[in-house]
Amino acid sequence: MSVVILDFGSQYTRLIARRMRELNAFSVVLPGTAPIERIREAAPTAVVLSGGPRSVFEAGAPKPDDALYGLEVPILGVCYGMHLLAERFGGRVIDAGERSYGSDRLAHADGPLFEGLEPPVAIWMSHADAVTELPEGWSSIAATATNPNVAVASPDGRRLGVQFHPEVVHTPDGARILSNFLDASGVPRDWTPERNLERITEDARARVGGDRVLLGVSGGVDSSALALLLARAGVDHLAVFVDHGLLRAGERAEVEDGLRALGVNLLTVDAGERFLSALAGIVDPEAKRKAIGREFVAVFREEAQRHGPFRFLAQGTLYPDVIESAGGEGAANIKSHHNVGGLPEELGFELLEPFRMLFKDEVREVARLLGLPDAIRLRHPFPGPGLAVRILGEVTSERIEIVRKSDAIFLEVLREHGAYHDAWQALAVLTPIQSVGVAGDERRYGHVVALRAVTSVDAMTADWARLSHEVLDDAARRITREIPEVGRVVYDITSKPPATIEWE
Ligand code: XMP
Repeated sequence: MSVVILDFGSQYTRLIARRMRELNAFSVVLPGTAPIERIREAAPTAVVLSGGPRSVFEAGAPKPDDALYGLEVPILGVCYGMHLLAERFGGRVIDAGERSYGSDRLAHADGPLFEGLEPPVAIWMSHADAVTELPEGWSSIAATATNPNVAVASPDGRRLGVQFHPEVVHTPDGARILSNFLDASGVPRDWTPERNLERITEDARARVGGDRVLLGVSGGVDSSALALLLARAGVDHLAVFVDHGLLRAGERAEVEDGLRALGVNLLTVDAGERFLSALAGIVDPEAKRKAIGREFVAVFREEAQRHGPFRFLAQGTLYPDVIESAGGEGAANIKSHHNVGGLPEELGFELLEPFRMLFKDEVREVARLLGLPDAIRLRHPFPGPGLAVRILGEVTSERIEIVRKSDAIFLEVLREHGAYHDAWQALAVLTPIQSVGVAGDERRYGHVVALRAVTSVDAMTADWARLSHEVLDDAARRITREIPEVGRVVYDITSKPPATIEWE
């Protein structure tokens, strides 16, 4: 039983899925043109047609399988989704130009969708097309001062369309509108963190039986929660934590203490020397990532053989990865993200992916229920290749130390100022630049460290965090005072795009 969201390419599709889950309704995202069999398999209790960048009147505009309209389920069309409904049932959609953009207010709003809301209701619209003629028998259920058809309903009220985006924060009552849709559709609200945990624990137990599971732990929330889940489920597991010598200050002890205390069977592999030699002389970012990926696989393979046999390899795959591989828009390979992929076939593992239906915030909730320490659960994301991608140029032990200390000071300053959670991620980068300064009465030719802090939701886009000048000042003073090799500190004020979060 699920709310099926058919994705027509809107940047907000995942947000619709997350909002439904926040309202305790299980949701799945399928490509907009998914055949009816796939939609039926997902057992929809309601369907949402997402927004999208196209116009329904364009040749080749994506449309759902027409058999969808034969299903006995309520359908909500959002923006492009509403245009699809209007066009399919005989209405007219035209390009209305700029008039349909931005924030606006509903001057009137009626019916179950707007239950409990009093106009004016603030809404956010982001499409140039509008419905100018309704299908036969349909009615307008909401209007702005300039657009009479901002929300529409079929005669039986089972097909609903909204021109605006209830899923975005700029529609402050959007969650209420979506909740009203779920109520009107009779969608069960049983998707809670407690039930999720129960479900995935039972599934993992049933699937693994008495066999053994191997997993890699990076210290991040996903893999740590996964290790904890297996431990709590009583699954026979070995969690391998590869210390590649590129971890943040204090990270290894935090992970080891945190997980062992909770019953995880954790093996830490000391591989610092090995990674350092593999990285010697490498300057190119992609070559660095590849060298690290290769070394990870080699270390992991050795440990698997030493402690095997294992039937399963557990991975912290999340729902966004599943959506992506389900055939949405293809994403360009900007950076080769490292994980232990490539291993399963080679070693004859079966994959175990208990989080494959969860979003990151849902994993964080599950982790909370499992008792994962907040120091791990709420920490900023950290890349698999570790500090190596924050050292521009060659990775040497001296340079690792400089960036590790800078990072530790920056994070400490953020915490002291209560600003750690103002940033989604914060980091220090050692640039290959040296600059002139003075220390005491002497000329100093020191390294330039760049600080970066960003706000983001899912790392796909990010903005630079508007940290206070006091925080930045404190960080710069402490870094230059406590790390003599550093002569200058700069703050990165580039958003993503065009930059990425990490510098390499
Ligand atoms: P970028 O730099 O691509 O980073 O904007 C987006 C997010 O991903 C993290 N990141 C990685 N995580 N392996 C990972 O597990 C990697 O190779 C990797 N590269 C970047 C980065 O820290 C940010 O949170």
